[in-house]
Amino acid sequence: MNGLHVAILGATGMVGQELLDVLVERKFPMTNLTLLSSARSAGSRVLVGGKEYAVEQASPEAFRGVDVAFFAAGGQVSKDWVEAAVDAGAMVIDNTSAFRLRDDVPLIVPEVNAEEILNHKGIISNPNCSTIIMAIVLKPILDRAGIKRVVVSTYQAVSGAGGRGMDELRRQTEDYVAGRELEAAILPVANEPKHYPIAFNAIPQIDVFEEDDYTKEEWKMVRETQKLFKDPSLKISPTAVRIPVMRSHSESINVETVSPLSPEECRELLRNAPGIELVDDVTEQVYPMPLYASGRDAVLVGRIRRDRTVENGLNLWVVGDQIRKGAALNAVQIAEHAYRMGAFTKR
Ligand SMILES: NC(=O)c1ccc[n+]([C@@H]2O[C@H](COP(=O)([O-])OP(=O)(O)OC[C@H]3O[C@@H](n4cnc5c(N)ncnc54)[C@H](OP(=O)(O)O)[C@@H]3O)[C@@H](O)[C@H]2O)c1
Repeated sequence: MNGLHVAILGATGMVGQELLDVLVERKFPMTNLTLLSSARSAGSRVLVGGKEYAVEQASPEAFRGVDVAFFAAGGQVSKDWVEAAVDAGAMVIDNTSAFRLRDDVPLIVPEVNAEEILNHKGIISNPNCSTIIMAIVLKPILDRAGIKRVVVSTYQAVSGAGGRGMDELRRQTEDYVAGRELEAAILPVANEPKHYPIAFNAIPQIDVFEEDDYTKEEWKMVRETQKLFKDPSLKISPTAVRIPVMRSHSESINVETVSPLSPEECRELLRNAPGIELVDDVTEQVYPMPLYASGRDAVLVGRIRRDRTVENGLNLWVVGDQIRKGAALNAVQIAEHAYRMGAFTKR
């Protein structure tokens, strides 16, 4: 089969722009490209691999002839356009939470469950960014030693809230330095009644509060990881926090394993695991940090040490670029796998 007709819904956003970079960088087999947005950006022009493309307002006709449509414009927008795209014959790879927990939609991290891609019925979901970054590290540990329980705290970058989150941190930082009052309008959640400054702060709320006073982001980490590992009883105790970092999410992960796994064995395991780079040498003060993880494909792991309070426990510090592996790269890898598996030849 030759190249594919690719569409990106949300092409002018953080994830949409990263998708374009990743598609070009990885030489994705692409013959046509359709860039879609809302009326706000329609008509703007975007340079992709040296060629200029016009951004169009999303419409049913825009999906005609499209083989693979990456959706990155928010959950409601995905729900609004998925039928048009699938009816037009496209495989939708969705970056939002709209379909992730549906039984008929595979939720894919290629390093974890690439074989499930072919079960799709038109839609494949990319997991939540914090889920992807955690799952890629838990997978080899689960396979080797089994997992009893995970306690995870996230330190999430403002770009996780889109371009407007980054603008807010930039503006508040300038205001703080100039001694002006800080104005907050976006974080923690744009359409909630209260907003707090993120500059020089840490906000223990990402998305709205749900059952048992956990946030929606925290529940995503629980339910999506259980779906990825096909284990609805997997115990995950999450706390998700927004911090004043522009890009890349960090996670402190405490994992209690069924059988013993020493820090040395864990290092060796993760050194050889796909999608992971070991950055772990405390004698040289070497550990992962978001500033250095940004723009990187690999999820970085360090600070691996024994949890001395339980029989079989480890602590890890994990950092990943949530726009890249947490969104755009994972989505493109799904499409690459689907292409190699012949998913586009049958249509
Ligand atoms: N940022 C991250 O780290 C991250 C990671 C994983 C997943 N995600 C998910 O990916 C999605 C996009 O996030 P983002 O951070 O890229 O957001 P963003 O920077 O705010 O970009 C939103 C994009 O959606 C488009 N859009 C908005 N409303 C639309 C509509 N009614 N019809 C068509 N297009 C519309 C925007 O177009 P205009 O230019 O016309 O406004 C823009 O291209 C969200 O669901 C988010 O949860 C984000």
